[in-house]
Amino acid sequence: MSLLTAWQFMIDQGHDVPNPLQPNQHQPVPLEGKRVLVNGAAGGVGHFAVQLAKWKGAYVIAVASGKHERFLGDLGVDKFIDYTKTIPEEVVHGLDLVIDSIGGPTTRRFLRTLKPGGALFPVFGLGATGREEAEKLGIVFSTTQVRSNGRQLAEIGKLFDKGTLRTAIDSTFSLSDAQKAHQRAARGNIQGKIVLTVH
Ligand SMILES: NC(=O)c1ccc[n+]([C@@H]2O[C@H](COP(=O)([O-])OP(=O)(O)OC[C@H]3O[C@@H](n4cnc5c(N)ncnc54)[C@H](OP(=O)(O)O)[C@@H]3O)[C@@H](O)[C@H]2O)c1
Repeated sequence: MSLLTAWQFMIDQGHDVPNPLQPNQHQPVPLEGKRVLVNGAAGGVGHFAVQLAKWKGAYVIAVASGKHERFLGDLGVDKFIDYTKTIPEEVVHGLDLVIDSIGGPTTRRFLRTLKPGGALFPVFGLGATGREEAEKLGIVFSTTQVRSNGRQLAEIGKLFDKGTLRTAIDSTFSLSDAQKAHQRAARGNIQGKIVLTVH
């Protein structure tokens, strides 16, 4: 689901289900040779967004806490910003695309990092701020809601087979320990996905 989310934001929405958060359908933007920032880059959605952007030939800036620097370097990011030390919107400008996997009320702050004609995609669209300001600045502001899609998963499966994509595993719990998995999720600083095993 996390990878389908990144895919539908960045590669191909793959459905035309009306979006309650905006009148128009979401449209991915070209990634080839573009400068792309991924906020929340080590998380479930973020680490796949990073890999898709690199696969498509973008220059990728990853924003995450410091513990993820080596992990994101291994995924091929071109620049890493530790948000606990540096405010990303103060040091990055002229971007083509921001994938904000934190999104919501804080997403507006990334408008100043984008060039006119750029795009801000808050993955958590509810309560996302900055839509009207984006329009004035000539920045595309768009969100969508993931839908299951077998055709896309088949395409994505081939990328796993080729080694183009991989899933990072934050931690593993048996289904009977699902409560512990929730406690892990609640602590935050997730790197990749939490796995539940069923025996
Ligand atoms: N639109 C959709 O269809 C859709 C689908 C799936 C998920 N979502 C939404 O997308 C969001 C992300 O989901 P997820 O599964 O990727 O979450 P997640 O796995 O918990 O990842 C969140 C990541 O953000 C990082 N983070 C936390 N605070 C941050 C900050 N201030 N700046 C930068 N990074 C920060 C965390 O680690 P560090 O703090 O250690 O860097 C973590 O790696 C959620 O709000 C979810 O509801 C939307």
